[in-house]
Amino acid sequence: MTKKVLVLPGDGIGPEIVGQATRVLDALIENHGLDVTYESALVGGSSFDAHETPLTDEVLAQAKEADAILLGAVGGPKWEQYDISVRPEKALLKLRSELELFGNLRPAILYKQLADASSLKPELVADLDVLIVRELTGGIYFGQPRGIRTLENGERQGFNTYVYSESEVERIAHVAFKAAMLRDKRVCSVDKANVLEATELWREVMDRVSKEYPEVELTHMYVDNAAMQLVRAPKQFDVMVTGNMFGDILSDCAAMLTGSIGMLPSASLDANGKGMYEPIHGSAPDIAGQNKANPLATILSVSMMLRHSFGEGAMADKIDQAVSTVLDQGYRTGDIHTEGDKLVSTVEMGDAVLKALA
Ligand code: NAI
Ligand code: MG
Repeated sequence: MTKKVLVLPGDGIGPEIVGQATRVLDALIENHGLDVTYESALVGGSSFDAHETPLTDEVLAQAKEADAILLGAVGGPKWEQYDISVRPEKALLKLRSELELFGNLRPAILYKQLADASSLKPELVADLDVLIVRELTGGIYFGQPRGIRTLENGERQGFNTYVYSESEVERIAHVAFKAAMLRDKRVCSVDKANVLEATELWREVMDRVSKEYPEVELTHMYVDNAAMQLVRAPKQFDVMVTGNMFGDILSDCAAMLTGSIGMLPSASLDANGKGMYEPIHGSAPDIAGQNKANPLATILSVSMMLRHSFGEGAMADKIDQAVSTVLDQGYRTGDIHTEGDKLVSTVEMGDAVLKALA
C-alpha cells in the first residue's frame, strides 16, 4: 500500500533544506519505484504566524494519520517574545508526546571526506560511527510533580522528578538492541545507578531485556564517565542507550565530535515503526533565506525514514551513497567548507545529490 508522508518544513532554513529533501523523494518516486505520496503543512513559526499556534489540531491529526513525518526545523528570535507555551519549539514536544515517539536515534558519523571538521585529533575520530539511542518521552523532562514552590520559611524551590517505569525502559531497550543487531552488536547503557534509584531500575531492566538478544554484548557506564569516554576514545562505542536528559546532552556532544551539524539526521520512533525524521540542527536564523544552508542532514533524514519506517534499506543505501559521492566530488556548503573545496548553495547541493542518484 502507498505510504503517506507528512512534510513539515517549519521556519528559518526549514523550507530551504526540506525543499531539497523532497526533490530527492520525488526522484525516488518517479525513477526508482518508491511507493510514497506526501503532503506539506505548516508547523512552528510558520504555523504561529498563520494561526497563532505552532501546531494546529488539523496538522496534529494529519501527523497521526501519516506513516512517517519529515520535519525541517523550527524556532527563532522572531518568536522569542511570546510565551513558551506557543513558541515554535513547543510543536516538536507536542508531536513527540502525542505520537508517543519515544525512541530517538541519533547517529554520529564522521564522513571521511570531512575528517578535518572534528575538534578531536583525526586518529581518534577516523571512521567514527556511534548510534545514540535516547529515550524521548519520559524521564525528568516529563516527570511529575514539577514546578516552583514556596517553602514554609518563604524560600522558593524549583523541583523536577526523575521517573522511569519498567515498561518505558523495556521499550527503549528493545529499540537499542534491535539497532545493535544491524550494527556491531554492542550496546552501552548509560545511567547514574550509583546515585539515582530510578536508574538502578533502568540498569536492572536493561540486563533483563538483553537476555532476549544473546548475540549483543551489553555494558553499563555511569553518565559522567560516558561523557569523558566520548571525548577520550569515542570509537569504543557502537550503540549507546540512555534516558531523556543524559541522551540530550551526550547526543549533542557526540554530534559535535563529527564537527558537522549540517550532516546529521535523526529519527524519533513509536512502537510500530512510525517515525518523525529531522536534521539535528535548528532553524539557523542567521543564514535563513540565503540559499546557504546544508541540506544533507535533511536528505539523510529521508534515508533514515526509508530504512526505519518503510523497510526500504536498498533505497536508503542509494541516498547515503549519493551523499558520499557529492562529498567525494568536493561539493561543500559553508558549514563544511574548507579551502580548496567547491563552495555551493543549498540548491546546488541538491542538484549534485540528484545527479549522483540518477
Ligand atoms: P542552530 O542549529 O539553528 O544553529 C547553530 C549554528 O549552526 C548556526 O550558526 C547556524 O547557521 C549553523 N547551522 C545549523 N544548521 C545548519 C545547516 N543545515 N547548514 C549550515 N549551517 C547550519 O541552533 P541555534 O542557533 O541554537 O538555534 C536557532 C533556533 O533553532 C532556535 O530558535 C532554537 O530553539 C531552534 N532549534 C530548533 C531545533 C529543531 O527544530 N529541531 C533544534 C535546535 C534548535
Ligand atoms: Mg539538545
